[in-house]
Amino acid sequence: MSDTATAVDVKPIVKGRNLVKTFGHVVGLNHADLDLFPGEVLAVIGDNGAGKSTLIKCFSGAHVPEAGTMEVDGRPVHFRSTNDARAAGIETVFQTLAVSPALDIATNLFLGRELRKPGPLGQFFRMMDKKQMRTQAAQQLSDLGISTMQDITQAVETLSGGQRQAVAVARAAAFGSKVIILDEPTAALGVRESARVLQLIHDLREKGMPVILISHNMPQVFEIADRIHVQRLGRRAAVVTPQSHTANDAVAIMTGAVQVPEEEQQLGPVR
Ligand SMILES: Nc1ncnc2c1ncn2[C@@H]1O[C@H](COP(=O)(O)OP(=O)(O)OP(=O)(O)O)[C@@H](O)[C@H]1O
Ligand SMILES: [Mg+2]
Repeated sequence: MSDTATAVDVKPIVKGRNLVKTFGHVVGLNHADLDLFPGEVLAVIGDNGAGKSTLIKCFSGAHVPEAGTMEVDGRPVHFRSTNDARAAGIETVFQTLAVSPALDIATNLFLGRELRKPGPLGQFFRMMDKKQMRTQAAQQLSDLGISTMQDITQAVETLSGGQRQAVAVARAAAFGSKVIILDEPTAALGVRESARVLQLIHDLREKGMPVILISHNMPQVFEIADRIHVQRLGRRAAVVTPQSHTANDAVAIMTGAVQVPEEEQQLGPVR
């Protein structure tokens, strides 16, 4: 069997076709496609307003598309809420970060799915098993190679931006998810903090966790992505790779200055 035949056999873990989403007269998605293959980091790039966030919000259950189809693991899905998407194994770190600053790291990790004490205390009195949550939280952070947060009982508001982002990413990675979506995870971060989050994405990829990374940071995208989905005017304009195209090429595709024929795109998996 040739490499090409093997590649064609790999089915996307996340697939979208012809997705349409409008906001009144504003078109967010105009027949957009999306494919994420197992184990890959897919970068999604595009100009402001190109529909990147809208696209991934369909898969995180925050938006319901008006037309088009979505599949996870080959099965059709119709998400009505972020809980639906989570139940299907899709965890999203949104562009506007969703951590609760006043709560500690462990509590943030388990927000919305707190562990209860065993027996009647948990079952009837809904008492939280803080000790168990702390133990598991510490384990999850160390599994992810996050060593900068020593104290799991530290309030998130006392963490640096990068550490907060790390908590949000750890939270997404922690719950046996199949897919992690990160919308601009480093946009508000400094150089060192960005590097930390980038390292987290590397770690996730090492573990074979597929990641969708929305980013405006071209060097970052070209360093970490297996494939690069270029979103333009509400649809997928092309999919290229860091090997096939340069950052300048990618910007030219983003702005519409250049179009890429389908046979020069990387629509299938690279590995
Ligand atoms: N809730 C909303 N209500 C109205 N219009 C919206 C809403 N969300 C997105 N839009 C519009 O849909 C289009 C796509 O927006 P989207 O947020 O997906 O862009 P983006 O590619 O993520 O941009 P950015 O790089 O700035 O984050 C834009 O024209 C935007 O103004
Ligand atoms: Mg956005």
